[in-house]
Amino acid sequence: MNETVQKLLAPSKGILAADGTNGIVKRFEAVGLTFTPELDKKYKELLFKTNGLENYISGVILNDANIKAGLGEILKRKGIEVGIKVDGGLEIFNDTDEQITKGLEDLAERLVDYKRLGAVFTKWRAVYKISDIYPSDGLIEESLSRMAVYAKMVQDCGLVPIVEPEVLLEGNHTNTRCEEITTKVVKRLFEVSREKNVDLSSLILKASMVIPGNKSGVIVMPLEVSNSTLRTLQNSVPSEVQGIVFLSGGQTADSATFNLNEITKLNLGKKFGSWDLTFSFERALQEGVLSAWVGKDENILKAQEVFLDRLQKVCLARQGEL
Ligand code: 13P
Repeated sequence: MNETVQKLLAPSKGILAADGTNGIVKRFEAVGLTFTPELDKKYKELLFKTNGLENYISGVILNDANIKAGLGEILKRKGIEVGIKVDGGLEIFNDTDEQITKGLEDLAERLVDYKRLGAVFTKWRAVYKISDIYPSDGLIEESLSRMAVYAKMVQDCGLVPIVEPEVLLEGNHTNTRCEEITTKVVKRLFEVSREKNVDLSSLILKASMVIPGNKSGVIVMPLEVSNSTLRTLQNSVPSEVQGIVFLSGGQTADSATFNLNEITKLNLGKKFGSWDLTFSFERALQEGVLSAWVGKDENILKAQEVFLDRLQKVCLARQGEL
């Protein structure tokens, strides 16, 4: 498992998240395409067959339909690690307007299946909405308990779990409140994981950057984002954890890229922690690709160029060299 962690954190590379289900349907619609499994497969083939993808991407997170459609094979041929999203999405938590991640019931059987299909790592995402009263302590406890149970089951199966406690961008909260909540959630995640005997050196944390809510009217510069994000991680991530990857969380591709660049630059001396940092973007890596393609074969090369251009920028940012 440690070998997989190291491969995923390879210098100058990062992880492509391609596992979205609801979001991708909306993104297809936004460019005038009706989502079908066949068209989704074509789109993923366009992404994965991009020339030189393996120079930028160490691992790809697939979803259930994609791995079963054989898309992992293209990645394996390129030496890219195959990952799989294993959470079952969100459900209402205790009749509140908070949401909790489901999917533990049949996880053990699914893991065996995914391993057979070539997966070596997995992802489980939980979300935390910020308001004056949220996230509630009840949600934090129950959702992190499920996440730790997931991580333990995955490790017992010989796979590497990515744990993703995403603090949502939606809302009018300040940067300070985002830092407070992110610190609280991530710190508690590792306490609960330890209690459940999860091996903290054989997992990867997928973290959100610390930024103010998208309705706060406040714009923060990348230097401020990098300081508050690294301070948050320093105050919440135990030293055994080897790798942290960032989600883009609805930031524009440029914002996510510039913020990543400042974060990795500030972390070069490793004075905040000894972990390696990289990206695991979905939306920020794929921005513009679908609209360049719009389902037409004659546009594949053009769409792959858009994708490659972003991959190059994000990989420079991953090294603090943008
Ligand atoms: P975004 O980069 O679009 O936030 O997606 C990352 C992800 O994998 C969400 O689970």
